[in-house]
Amino acid sequence: MSQDGRMASDYRLYGDLAGWWPVISPPEEYADEARDLAAALDSAVPPAREVLDLGSGGGHVALHLKPGRTLTLVDLSGEMLAVSRRLNPECAHIRGDMRTIRLGRVFDAVLAHDAVDYMTTEADLRQVVETAFAHCRPGGIALFVPDHIADAFRPVSGGGGGTDGSGRQASFREWTWDPDPADDWVQAEYEFVLRAADGTVQVVREEHRLGAFSRAAWLRLLADAGFEPGPGRAAPPEADGGRTRGHLFTGRRPAR
Ligand SMILES: C[S@@+](CC[C@H](N)C(=O)[O-])C[C@H]1O[C@@H](n2cnc3c(N)ncnc32)[C@H](O)[C@@H]1O
Repeated sequence: MSQDGRMASDYRLYGDLAGWWPVISPPEEYADEARDLAAALDSAVPPAREVLDLGSGGGHVALHLKPGRTLTLVDLSGEMLAVSRRLNPECAHIRGDMRTIRLGRVFDAVLAHDAVDYMTTEADLRQVVETAFAHCRPGGIALFVPDHIADAFRPVSGGGGGTDGSGRQASFREWTWDPDPADDWVQAEYEFVLRAADGTVQVVREEHRLGAFSRAAWLRLLADAGFEPGPGRAAPPEADGGRTRGHLFTGRRPAR
């Protein structure tokens, strides 16, 4: 639950509009980021092969990570899981909340990519870090890739979009700003223009609340959960063509 009482599942983007996800944010755009994450998974000793992806969405990151690895994909949205199943039919898909899910098994690595942005209170983020620890084997690693961190936050405006084989087209604009730097969240305002194959156009505006925690908070929560935190990496705000992608926090679960 975000601070304003909304669940991420209340957002239309992950509900009735989920089928547009591959057109709004095409899978190929995740290749560079996934390469970076794959390098982190491969640098583990031994390399991480069994991976749990918390908040896997449409499975666009998973698409690039799955060669040579076995991925288990968890998301809150049944609609987003359905999109991902089409793209990644060989992966296990499980509906669940990354704060509370317990699968009763461990993985070589746990990944929480941009979906972790939907944690807007420290209590929620703590739960996700604890979920990651519970599913990480001794000696395994956890990777967290938030879009925003408080220390490096700058207002972002950008956009994107794409097309698909059926003739659908989508474009979006995004403005992300911080209404109150004293709290742990920022506001993203999206405008989606969605053109169906029959030429019908709909314009949808939606505000999302996204977490922006300090680097110190990330490192403290990782240590509190039992991880040995890595140094973390804050990407410059202008990285990735105006998006803030590239922050990375890592935790290693001690071998014993
Ligand atoms: C930006 S999308 C993720 C896209 C994904 N990185 C991909 O490769 O397609 C964010 C996702 O976070 C999911 N989400 C938000 N809060 C969640 C929670 N508490 N537990 C699990 N998934 C959650 C949403 O349902 C949505 O699918």
